[in-house]
Order: sequence, then C-alpha cells, then structure tokens
Amino acid sequence: MALKKFVAGNWKMHGLSADLAEIKVIADASRQYPGVDVALCVPAILIERAARAVPGFAIGGQDVHHAEKGAHTGSVSAQMLHDAGAGLTIVGHSERRDAQRESDVEVKAKAEAALACGLGVILCVGESLAVREAGGAIETVVAQLEGSLPESAKAASLAIAYEPIWAIGTGKVPTVAEIAEMHRAIRGRLDERYGAGIRILYGGSVKGSNAAEIFGVADVDGALVGGASLKCADFIPIVAAAAAAG
Ligand code: PGA
Repeated sequence: MALKKFVAGNWKMHGLSADLAEIKVIADASRQYPGVDVALCVPAILIERAARAVPGFAIGGQDVHHAEKGAHTGSVSAQMLHDAGAGLTIVGHSERRDAQRESDVEVKAKAEAALACGLGVILCVGESLAVREAGGAIETVVAQLEGSLPESAKAASLAIAYEPIWAIGTGKVPTVAEIAEMHRAIRGRLDERYGAGIRILYGGSVKGSNAAEIFGVADVDGALVGGASLKCADFIPIVAAAAAAG
C-alpha cells in the first residue's frame, strides 16, 4: 500500500522576519493538497513566529540537542522546540554530521530526545561521492541507519531522508535505479526493525522539474527539499507532483 507522501522543506540558514510572509503563502498553497503532508523546517529563531503565523501547518526545527536541559550553550532542546510550536525536527543532516562532526550515536540520541517530547523526526542518512564511486553507498548508508535509528518509533513520528551528500545543492541527482536500490535497502531495515509504514524521503536537488520522476520511484514516499523550498513558486510544484503521484 502506498504511504501518504510527505514533502518537507529545509530552509537551512535562510529566513528573517520578512520571510514569514512567504511561509504563509506556502502554507496556504499547501492546503490545496490535502493528500500530501507538508512541513517547513525553519531556523530555530523563526519557529515560534512561523507556527503562530500558520496555525495547523507543520513547522519544524532543523536540529535538536539530545539532552533534556543543562549547560549546553547555544543549543536548543526538544522541549524548547515543542514549546515554540514545532511539530517535528530534522536530525542527522549531513551538513551537521560533517561540520559539527555529529556521530551516529549522537544522532540516535537526538532522535530519541525528539520522539520522547512528541516531536516527529526526519532522520537523514547519505553517502559521500567518494563512497558512491568506490561502490560502498548501500553498505555505508545501511550502517549509518543502523547506528542512528531510535530504539523504538511509530510510523507516524519517524521518516528517513536519504540524501546523497553529492546531490545536495549541486543540481546532481542519482539515477532512478540508484534511488530505487537505496530506498529498497533502507525499507528492508526499517520493516525488520519497526514493521511497515515508515516513510522514506529522497533529498538532494529535488525541483519541480524532476519531482514527478523521483516520486515515481518505488519506495520513495516524499522529499526533503532545500533550495527549492524557499519560494512558494519553486516548492509548490514539488508538492503538486507528490499529490499527483498519490
Ligand atoms: P537541496 O538540499 O534540495 O538544496 O539539494 C536538500 C537538503 O540538504 O535537505
């Protein structure tokens, strides 16, 4: 059975007060596609205002600290995200795994902290170009998944985003066969571990022009979208493609 498609925008370090108007435009346009779950993961400092501006629309964070509270200067806890109005958060994005040297163990702890607070989680995995070219993509991503998955999760609160690092922000996208092979491998692990129903998103240079093809791939249940999520005109065609894919 096809899972309900989920399209999440990752605004990364973009967005000021003036952009709340665009968030509202995106939320309003998304309501025309009730067959698709849509969310925007915005900078932490915008979450509260965004959540107030678009009640009923899913606003998320992009990272969370694994601890409940404490001496962690500059960090944001799951309870703080929830308190600000977030309904979900990304964890383990490759930009954090790389730049902040986040390990699988840490990503797992973040996912568990978020789930314990009632937040949905989008957990990211993905291989580098060197790993892909050396033929180790599946093995690497499956190992990352095994190391980062929370101990328990319900299908409604966890999604996995497969994001090949070399496809993020580059305009390069894996072939349909490469996406299918990876998503099948991820699906196998998820089904074994939690049972069926956890959505697997593809991420990395998703655009209106390639979304339909990507959503047509088996085991692709949605997308995590960076650059093309900043403007309604770029993002909504992706949501529309998800709706059309069913
Ligand atoms: P991109 O980013 O769509 O700009 O490639 C995707 C992501 O990093 O989540």
